[in-house]
Amino acid sequence: MSTDPSPDFGSVDRLELPHHSFEAEAQQLDAADALAPHRDAFVGSDSSLIYFDGNSLGRPPRATAERLARFVTEEWGGRLIRGWDEAWMELPFVIGDRIGALALGAASGQTVIGDSTTVLLYKMLRAALDAQTARDPERVEIVVGRDDFPTDRYLVEGIAAERGARVVWIDVDTTRGVDADLLRAAVGPRTAVVLLSHVSYRSGFLADGAELTAVAHRAGALVLWDLCHSAGSVPVELDAWGADLAVGCTYKYLNGGPGSPAFAYVAARHHAALTQPVQGWMGAADVFSMGPQYRPAEGMRRFLSGTPPVLAMIAMQDTLDLLDDAGIGAVRAKSVALTEFAVRVADGILSPLGVRLASPRDAAERGGHVTLSHPAMRAVTARLWKGDVIPDYRDPHGLRIGLSPLSTSFSETLTGMRAVAEAVRAES
Ligand SMILES: Cc1ncc(COP(=O)(O)O)c(C=O)c1O
Repeated sequence: MSTDPSPDFGSVDRLELPHHSFEAEAQQLDAADALAPHRDAFVGSDSSLIYFDGNSLGRPPRATAERLARFVTEEWGGRLIRGWDEAWMELPFVIGDRIGALALGAASGQTVIGDSTTVLLYKMLRAALDAQTARDPERVEIVVGRDDFPTDRYLVEGIAAERGARVVWIDVDTTRGVDADLLRAAVGPRTAVVLLSHVSYRSGFLADGAELTAVAHRAGALVLWDLCHSAGSVPVELDAWGADLAVGCTYKYLNGGPGSPAFAYVAARHHAALTQPVQGWMGAADVFSMGPQYRPAEGMRRFLSGTPPVLAMIAMQDTLDLLDDAGIGAVRAKSVALTEFAVRVADGILSPLGVRLASPRDAAERGGHVTLSHPAMRAVTARLWKGDVIPDYRDPHGLRIGLSPLSTSFSETLTGMRAVAEAVRAES
């Protein structure tokens, strides 16, 4: 069913390398792509719109429309309040465990669906800082990258002010991210917790999870991983890394829908020692006995606060089914092939126009998106959106090409990048 559109961007062809047809290459890559049939599972994959922003908001799976309708009529409408006892109370843990198994390398009982990413990051960071300073009052520093996603930086500053902690900033090359050498220079005997992005939202830089976790641990610090741009795209091995805590979005590569709630991971060895700051009844040991005082529940329940957003967490299950079928290894292999192709096309048709790659060139250091830099990219993005080619823009001068392995084809990638070239020419 998937028909890739080929609008007339022919004038850009003459910029391609001689004797090299990206068209033929895209067709060959699509023909050899074992995940290609999954593309039809997404709403809009048969339209002419080019979607390069699945790293911000994933396309909806077709099965989700039916799942949501069924939920309203059968579960919510049919079971009413009984639904809580029958299924919904456990849903945050059931879906959390599935994400843990399929995408995070996390054994069961350590992942839960909770609040928004921002709120969960706040809860985890506060819990980690408080536990560390209780253990050792000298540990009052929070380490974070100066180019991390705004919410991460703002939270760190807010928590530092609230708890009398100190922020240690890591300056980074904005076409990369925090690596082991930079982290080694920032941590020490006063470090309580390190907040790290696995895949940088700006450059797509892919951090070495095992190595960075080990660097932080050697300094006696805890690590909180922001997995927003890796969950469902890049394999994560939280248990094998020895990670402490992690939080990630579900509306990007997990296609949970606009504002779907985030997941949190806490390694089992930390459950008893961590107390999160938003003590609500859903995190209490005695939820329905409505006891006089808050006593945190055992295990991951203690990281919940209020009533779980059930409606908002059901959509992501369709992508988890697809991920179960495809396997995260195959998803990553296609993601690498897509970004490699995008880099080759950028070198062929965009670099002659003055466009610069603002992502790592080595696929082993790159997640699922490629950032391209040119002074006209803000205007280029606006022009592209009008023509139904949808990347996104990040200052300074960065156009992000987000390539969702389950819903993006190589031909779609080529057509969209040719449109980028046309728009750069028009706006330069
Ligand atoms: C890397 C990263 N961290 C945190 C967030 C914040 O997520 P939310 O707005 O769902 O709280 C985002 C959102 O895009 C993100 O990309």
